[in-house]
Amino acid sequence: MIRSILTGVGAYLPEKVLTNDDLSKIVDTSDEWIRQRTGIERRHVAGEGELTCDLAANAARAAMKMAGVDAREIDLLILATTTPDNTFPATAARVQAKLGVHQGPAFDIQAVCSGFIFALTQADNMIRLGQAKKALVIGAEIYSRILDWEDRGTCVLFGDGAGAVVLQAAEGDGTSADRGVLATETGTDGSHYDALYVDGGVATTGHAGHVRMAGQEVFRHAVSRMSQSVENVIARTGLAKADLNWLIPHQANARIIAKVGDKLGVPQDNVIVTVQEHANTSAATIPLALTHGVATQSFKPGDLIALTAMGGGFTWGAALLRW
Ligand code: ACO
Repeated sequence: MIRSILTGVGAYLPEKVLTNDDLSKIVDTSDEWIRQRTGIERRHVAGEGELTCDLAANAARAAMKMAGVDAREIDLLILATTTPDNTFPATAARVQAKLGVHQGPAFDIQAVCSGFIFALTQADNMIRLGQAKKALVIGAEIYSRILDWEDRGTCVLFGDGAGAVVLQAAEGDGTSADRGVLATETGTDGSHYDALYVDGGVATTGHAGHVRMAGQEVFRHAVSRMSQSVENVIARTGLAKADLNWLIPHQANARIIAKVGDKLGVPQDNVIVTVQEHANTSAATIPLALTHGVATQSFKPGDLIALTAMGGGFTWGAALLRW
């Protein structure tokens, strides 16, 4: 049976850093408020002229280097992003060109903060079907360009960044002891539009618009959707919550992360948290946290890792991996 295994991870954060104190000079906020409510300490902001395709390509190069694959081998590229360079072509096509990849499909997925889980799910499915052998799955965002820098309720929460993984086809025996992606789940409920959206777009205003959010509603849904989707993917493999070694939740807010960890019974030390370093980078947070976990040598062969996210749409999802 064909499985997809993760052979490389990579991250890229732009050079420029905005601390909470820096933000307190722009809007009426404080380091103390932001840390207490969100756990965020700083965020990275793309430089002038830096595009989503640049961030994505930098993260992808690092993942390809770790996997030891070159551009001629990549036969699928999926980029999860809410902040594409242009209306078309897909930013994935620009990333493909930057990397020197000239074969296989390259396309964007738009599922906001759940985008990486949606992209990973599609890549895993295509690999299982034999339609791809070596895939790049990337999450990359430049939220600084869709934030209302006068709205303290949202501008303190987000940052720019990218993360990537290489997924490769490998033989497994079809059991939950296999390495690689064991199960995935994605979902959407479009009735929550008003709770989290961008107030612009091609067919509405003709401008990109700004993020608008009802924070407490998003908070409640994030906790329940993320923990439920992890429970669902675990149940599908016949494993139990107690088998989980690591939880890598979408990095939006340290309080959301702690509540999801508690609901799933995962000890705090086994929940990867990087939100303090880069704030919410939407589709990029999971591969950024995954790369951190690899860099700190957190994962041992055979460890069971759950990834989960929730975002605008509402969208949500989870993936279960064996390292
Ligand atoms: N600095 C200081 N004060 C602020 C700030 C700020 N940056 N932002 C809001 N406030 C004020 C509000 O105006 C309000 O003041 P008031 O009491 O005088 O009216 C007060 O703080 C409390 O506001 P609340 O919105 O009730 O604060 P809450 O405790 O809910 O925290 C927060 C707000 C952090 C946004 C929280 O609701 C949250 O984290 N929600 C999840 C949102 C999220 O993570 N979104 C990311 C996208 S979706 C996703 O990734 C899952």
